[in-house]
Amino acid sequence: KEYTVAILGATGAVGNCMIQQLEQSSIPVKELHLLASARSAGKTLTFRGQEVEVEETTPDSFEGVDLVLSSAGGSTSKKFLPEAVKRGAVCVDNTSAYRMDPDVPLVVPEVNPEALDNHHGIIANPNCSTIQMVVALEPIRQAFGLKQVIVSTYQAASGAGQSALNEFYQQAQDYLAGKKMTAEILPTKGDKRHYPLAFNLLPQIDVLEDSGYSHEEWKMIHETKKIMVGDMDAAEPKVTATCVRVPVGISHGESVYFEVEDQSATADQIKELLQNAPGVVLQDDLANQVYPQPLTAEGKRDVFVGRVRPDYENKGAFNMWIVADNLLKGAAWNAVQNAECLVERGLI
Ligand code: A2P
Repeated sequence: KEYTVAILGATGAVGNCMIQQLEQSSIPVKELHLLASARSAGKTLTFRGQEVEVEETTPDSFEGVDLVLSSAGGSTSKKFLPEAVKRGAVCVDNTSAYRMDPDVPLVVPEVNPEALDNHHGIIANPNCSTIQMVVALEPIRQAFGLKQVIVSTYQAASGAGQSALNEFYQQAQDYLAGKKMTAEILPTKGDKRHYPLAFNLLPQIDVLEDSGYSHEEWKMIHETKKIMVGDMDAAEPKVTATCVRVPVGISHGESVYFEVEDQSATADQIKELLQNAPGVVLQDDLANQVYPQPLTAEGKRDVFVGRVRPDYENKGAFNMWIVADNLLKGAAWNAVQNAECLVERGLI
């Protein structure tokens, strides 16, 4: 079978990567529709060497579409994905709109592909920071049990979209030219105040909540539990997060402290697990100064893990460092990979 595919948000940072990832995927594409807002209607983008015109999204854009890959913001997903499902499409949604819906599977193919079997037309792609963390932690959880995770993130500007990435590059140029930096988007578009990211660190990703945590931090907590154990409020693994935007264009870093149940686990055993884990590349060679970095992860589909070491103060506790391309494994590749799994399982 060949599929008619629509990319919703095709002109965005993730949408652009979705086009590339679909080009390189095993999914047989009969026809591709590139959808965005009215602002982009008439622009052209390239798919498999052919120009495709971008269309304004309307409910009828999904007529005859088998598969939708969407990354155009939560409200756009809420508005259009039910229309797509009504017309018979299966949607893989990269926004947070449906992630906590109990009827919507939240899937990372290396971790919980079986959750796809129960879909009702919409599959949610997790948050970029959650994806790379669970890919690295799941093999460890399977082998040794996972009690607790404490994560601090170092997140790239592109996670906030193409306009945030452009704003960051402009700030860097302005700063080096001795000009005043301006900020209109970061830390997060809808909020009251904006700060420059260039030569700075912003401990706010998405909106801040009364709980004292940012929305991004809550996403990491609840999504990790839903993906690993199928319950967003599960007591274990315990998860807490601090999410920070750093002046990097592409690829998120994460410092992860975790405690396992099996107190006999060693760092060498964990490295061996990671070496053989699907989707993971172990980059951990201290003698040769080998460890994951954003610049070396950019453009790759894998999750890179290094600096794996025991916490000498706590038994059964470890630290490690994870880096992945937030636009690929954190978004576009995970979405296309989910779509490939749907095709393989006969679920579209
Ligand atoms: P457009 O380029 O026409 O604004 P990013 O995450 O990089 O900011 O990209 C967001 C994507 O979502 C873009 O492709 C953008 O299209 C698209 N988009 C934003 N609002 C809408 C909307 N109301 N309807 C359809 N697409 C939208």
